[in-house]
Amino acid sequence: MSKEYIEMIREAASFISDKIERRVPFAGIILGSGLGDLAEKIDNKIIIPYSEIPHFALSTAMGHKGNLIAGELGGKFVVAMQGRFHYYEGYGMDKVTLPVRVMKLLGISYLFVSNAAGGVNKEYRVGDIMVIKDHINLMPNPLIGKNLDQFGPRFPDMTRPYDLAVINIAETIAQKMGIKLHKGVYLAGTGPTYETPAEYSFFRTIGADAVGMSTVPEVIVARHSSIPVFGVSVITNEAFAFADDFVNDGDDVIEAANSAAQKLTTLVTGVIESL
Ligand code: HPA
Repeated sequence: MSKEYIEMIREAASFISDKIERRVPFAGIILGSGLGDLAEKIDNKIIIPYSEIPHFALSTAMGHKGNLIAGELGGKFVVAMQGRFHYYEGYGMDKVTLPVRVMKLLGISYLFVSNAAGGVNKEYRVGDIMVIKDHINLMPNPLIGKNLDQFGPRFPDMTRPYDLAVINIAETIAQKMGIKLHKGVYLAGTGPTYETPAEYSFFRTIGADAVGMSTVPEVIVARHSSIPVFGVSVITNEAFAFADDFVNDGDDVIEAANSAAQKLTTLVTGVIESL
């Protein structure tokens, strides 16, 4: 499987490389639920629908558009995924993380990841932004199986999953732009169910600040091949005090993410500009 898998990665990379006239993107960006707006801010866009890219899955999740968008952001050439692939959609981890390895072959120097997440830290409010400083993985590890030695080692270090220098830059920029930033731990479960109150409470107890269904697989695969990662969660629901009539609802999550998208765009653009 892994020889074929590497062929798939190469074919996808070569297809994209042709489309972007062999330019080397400075950063890859993966945009989560309701956060695709950042892609609209990219200048001189080259839009490549996932359906055209060999071996890319299709984005079926709500609020995910399904385009790879290349162009300039913050004065640098970037490739952005407007929508990602989730494990809960039924894709294997190989499909979920293939784009990260494709971006590695394209030559990215940084990976930016974003997601919508439930806040289990009681200080967090809907619309807040949390820079991810660490994660807890409760999904299957995407590196299970034969190691792809050409990408990285069998037992990758995970002591610095999110790049400290980039986090510092983001904090400085946020302060300058008046954006309030939390810094916390993101916990990834498989979904697609939202958590029970007992599960949210358990996740808080074990050290999570925010909970979601994505991102960690891509981060693990990026760190396997030593790509520095910057991650941000947009808090779309307060997962600690439930009113009697409260229900978690996907549409509310998308709406909350959309309304915070501008802050995220400003922050990510600022960080890319100053790197
Ligand atoms: N749990 C899991 N995933 C999520 C949540 C949540 O509360 N909110 C947005 N994505």
